[in-house]
Amino acid sequence: MTAKILVVDDELPIERLICQQFRKKIRAKELEFVFAHNGLEALDKLKEDGQIDMVLTDINMPEMDGLTLLEKLKELELNVKAVVVTAYSDMENIRKAMNNDAFDFLMKPINFDDLELTINRTLETVRQIKQTQYQLQQVQTQLIQKEKMSALGQLVAGVAHEINNPVNFVAGNLTHARDYIEVMLHLLQLYQQHYPEPVTQIKAETESLDLQYLMEDLPQLISSMHVGIDRINQLIVALKTFSRADSSNKIPFNIHEGLDSTLLILRHRLKACSGHPAIAIIKEYENIPQVHCYPGPLNQVFMNLLANAIDAIDELTHQGQIIQQPTIKIRTEVVEKGWVEIRISDNGLGMTEEVKQQLFQPMFTTKPCGKGTGLGLSICQQIIYEKHQGSLTYCSELGKGTEFTIRLPVGG
Ligand SMILES: Nc1ncnc2c1ncn2[C@@H]1O[C@H](COP(=O)(O)OP(=O)(O)OP(=O)(O)O)[C@@H](O)[C@H]1O
Ligand SMILES: [Mg+2]
Repeated sequence: MTAKILVVDDELPIERLICQQFRKKIRAKELEFVFAHNGLEALDKLKEDGQIDMVLTDINMPEMDGLTLLEKLKELELNVKAVVVTAYSDMENIRKAMNNDAFDFLMKPINFDDLELTINRTLETVRQIKQTQYQLQQVQTQLIQKEKMSALGQLVAGVAHEINNPVNFVAGNLTHARDYIEVMLHLLQLYQQHYPEPVTQIKAETESLDLQYLMEDLPQLISSMHVGIDRINQLIVALKTFSRADSSNKIPFNIHEGLDSTLLILRHRLKACSGHPAIAIIKEYENIPQVHCYPGPLNQVFMNLLANAIDAIDELTHQGQIIQQPTIKIRTEVVEKGWVEIRISDNGLGMTEEVKQQLFQPMFTTKPCGKGTGLGLSICQQIIYEKHQGSLTYCSELGKGTEFTIRLPVGG
């Protein structure tokens, strides 16, 4: 990766000298230099370009001197290291600079061999700090994910189990109730057939109850109860599939079952609401083999990507744009021998270049506080790359929509 160095000096020849001295490394894209002529200009460059690793600054400059620049860098808590260039024996300024967290100093006139050594040493330190920060973030994300997953998984599995028992006995009794009702209705019909002229009291009661209507409606009522119970059962199966314990080994898993159970859990978010009209789900499932994977975490990836897609549709509608038909498309296919691809696309907000640059960074979110933690995609990335040796890529156009693509090795 190219390391970027901001050189801050009001004397122009420095630019030419540096470009000459480091031309090989610049050409090989090992180093990139940007230049500013005073502290203020340097601050602007640092704020607009988040990729700068090191600042090499003079001390005496117009508008904002190097020492003030160091103070500002400290305030901004940027991930850069600064080296000051100062006149020989200017101990006073060197001391001030070091007190303001300068990483090192160089004497004027600059000795370019010395400069190269200092740059190498500074960049190595920046690299180590970045790597440590990255590892820390990864560990933090993993911890949060583990905690989230196990707490959520246990809760879901527990609730599914608890609901399962009462639902089973309602379902069982309902079958008996339907049989009993059929028998009783048949008996009633026999009575009506053989005693067409009942006593006055029964006649009056039959009319006031609208018995004929009750007899027709009751079987329909029972069958709609059956439909309801079937739905609850499906939901329980979905919850159980979704929260399948994070087993220590990969197991063969039907990806379509994972996607369907996730959709069922998200069903309430797909219905029309103040945020958006009903979202259509288009499934284009091909005949793919079972995939060796960790089903629990993989379902979590589906959940995160689908929830993001719904949010993106919500957001576009909130911005006052009318989507003719909000749609989420899910496609699965075998792409090459031993690999399956799962694509989830939406016709929601899409992403700006700025969002794309930070998309997978833990804690990056454009959603309001309390709604998004910004962890969804970094968790997905970890699950797909590290747990499954797969890949997660995307393609997005602002105002048009986004598509995420997961590739997984079938054999795990
Ligand atoms: N399908 C998408 N369309 C448009 N933008 C998206 C999409 N998916 C993700 N993004 C953008 O990427 C950001 C990060 O997504 P991520 O899932 O990591 O976090 P989040 O959704 O903001 O919060 P969390 O998932 O933790 O609740 C989102 O805030 C959003 O700006
Ligand atoms: Mg998300």
